[in-house]
Amino acid sequence: MKEFKGKVLAVTGAGSGIGRAIALEAAERGMKVVVNDIDAPSLAKTVEMVKAKGAECASLVADATMASSIEALLHTTLEAFGKVNIMVSNAGVTAPGPVWELPIQDIDWITQANFLGHTYGMHYFIKQMIEQGDECAYMNVASGAGLMVSGSSCMYHATKTADVVQTEATYLALKGRGITNVQMHVLCPAYVLTEIHESDKHRPERFAINDDPYYKSEEYIAGNIRAARGVATGIPIDSVGMTVFTAFEDNKFYVFTHPEAIEMQKIRVQAIYDGTHPIG
Ligand SMILES: NC(=O)c1ccc[n+]([C@@H]2O[C@H](COP(=O)([O-])OP(=O)(O)OC[C@H]3O[C@@H](n4cnc5c(N)ncnc54)[C@H](O)[C@@H]3O)[C@@H](O)[C@H]2O)c1
Repeated sequence: MKEFKGKVLAVTGAGSGIGRAIALEAAERGMKVVVNDIDAPSLAKTVEMVKAKGAECASLVADATMASSIEALLHTTLEAFGKVNIMVSNAGVTAPGPVWELPIQDIDWITQANFLGHTYGMHYFIKQMIEQGDECAYMNVASGAGLMVSGSSCMYHATKTADVVQTEATYLALKGRGITNVQMHVLCPAYVLTEIHESDKHRPERFAINDDPYYKSEEYIAGNIRAARGVATGIPIDSVGMTVFTAFEDNKFYVFTHPEAIEMQKIRVQAIYDGTHPIG
């Protein structure tokens, strides 16, 4: 996709970080923008920033872990602007810990936010894009964690790997059916200076922190500190919008904020190839 002016972009989790950066870059390029987030005040700030760039903007406060919210986002987009050309399924969360310690509600939360929400996005938006038949692009925001593995955030690695595979499989399904109007992309960032380590702030009510002892455990507290320290080493957000739109322009499938991080990913594949145990 080379031209963006007058086209329509929708993005989930746009109240902060990468989602907001993508919304602002779209506005900069003359697109009409539809933003979603679960956090109403943060989303209102993004709307203000997008409009300050002279772009038309619609918004939907909704929990992107629910299929009904993603369907509503598509309706909001079509009602406001009559079509959608780019959808970025970006909302995501993290919580530390191995699966035998994580409360079941966190296993569900991370799966619904990081994987099912993105899959619902593909279901509703790609169907619409195929029907429209004009030039469209769909991006899932996965992570470098979806291409490599460590023992520190099992659900994060698992769901981000699932995002990568779902995007790859959907690309192949479109290709197999000869559908050429929908470009597919998966963004695999390494650390970027955002608020991802504060995911607890964005828990839907049904996943609110409860009296499960895990939330007071050393593992949980240390894991959150580890995440905050990791993010603090990240690159500034400024370049991310440009990286994403360059990928749309060049029809690049795998999109990286840190191209050098690809080396880390070779280690996992090498272990599979060599028949050793995982290395992380
Ligand atoms: N920042 C990084 O270092 C990094 C690295 C790799 C991948 N990512 C991925 O990038 C994406 C964006 O994260 P970010 O770094 O900008 O973090 P962020 O926390 O700054 O932004 C995430 C936004 O998503 C929103 N959100 C969370 N749950 C939601 C829900 N259920 N419904 C709607 N909105 C919801 C939050 O309110 C927040 O505004 C995530 O998928 C994350 O996993 C980030």
